[in-house]
Amino acid sequence: MLVKLELPHFTLPSMFAAPTISEEILDLKRQRRAILLAHHYQDPEIQEIADVVGDSLELARKAREYEGDVIAFCGVWFMAETAKVLNPNRIVVAPDRDAGCSLVDSCKAEDVREYRRRNPEHMVVSYINTSVEVKAESDILCTSRNAVRVVNSIPRERTVLFLPDRNLGAWVQRETGRENMKIWQGSCIVHNTFPSRRLLEAKTAYPDALVVAHPECPEAVLRHADFVGSTSAIIEYCATSPAPEFIVMTESGVNYSLERAAPGSRFHYVANENCNCSECPFMRLNTLEKLRDALADLSPRVELSADLMRRALVPLERMLAVG
Ligand code: 13P
Ligand code: SF4
Repeated sequence: MLVKLELPHFTLPSMFAAPTISEEILDLKRQRRAILLAHHYQDPEIQEIADVVGDSLELARKAREYEGDVIAFCGVWFMAETAKVLNPNRIVVAPDRDAGCSLVDSCKAEDVREYRRRNPEHMVVSYINTSVEVKAESDILCTSRNAVRVVNSIPRERTVLFLPDRNLGAWVQRETGRENMKIWQGSCIVHNTFPSRRLLEAKTAYPDALVVAHPECPEAVLRHADFVGSTSAIIEYCATSPAPEFIVMTESGVNYSLERAAPGSRFHYVANENCNCSECPFMRLNTLEKLRDALADLSPRVELSADLMRRALVPLERMLAVG
């Protein structure tokens, strides 16, 4: 005979509740002896659990010094490749192999090789937003944070090829006053499509706001900026400025770090003509679910030949020596 038991109603204690994805990631991170590096453009839930949030230069430095087993890189693929080159004995994973960059796509290694063959005396300065194959063809690398210092470190009589971002290259040329500089014609689909017309509308709407801009923006935008700098330089500027309000001409993921660094300040964003937003579609491919799976499966994983890493390391170390 079946007896129907009347069980008392109770709720499960929280220790039996299913872990959240963030908790799963933190657990996997401990098991794997992993560090989680995240770029400022990542979604807030990724930045919240990251060990380090930074711009491309800061994250490269952190990757180089890590002594655990695994680097989980939440940014775009060239950043994960850079981490691998700087710390080849670690396993480097990233949430999504398709997190590319329009600047990387604009510059092929065979075209750089051909340029070098025709202009052997030119110094090739490559932005870190390049493939590892292009890095291996370069004399020295730079990020938006140190590009002016890097170009100034090159003897003034040497002609420079700056690649691949045309706006960053033109800004560096203006800042250094260097005439013997050739500039590749690549661009960022996010920053290059901010229309100056919309910036002027924002300035009219927020007349007390200062304008801060990433140097990947076109000159028509940069000429209205009160400050131009890398992602972290923008955050530092806003955190130390007495101004209460800013129009931010870069990827809007930076808002999370801006609000933490400058609580009480107000930040306004301008939509670009590419997505009618200010988000990088590549950066936004990363999700907590994909990050958890990458740590569990150790895939997608950066795998590069020893020879390629050895050649790409030379210009990277030269850049880090400049600062
Ligand atoms: P940062 O060097 O400022 O981090 O910029 C990287 C980038 O991809 C900007 O679009
Ligand atoms: Fe590349 Fe632009 Fe995205 Fe930065 S914002 S990763 S430069 S496409």
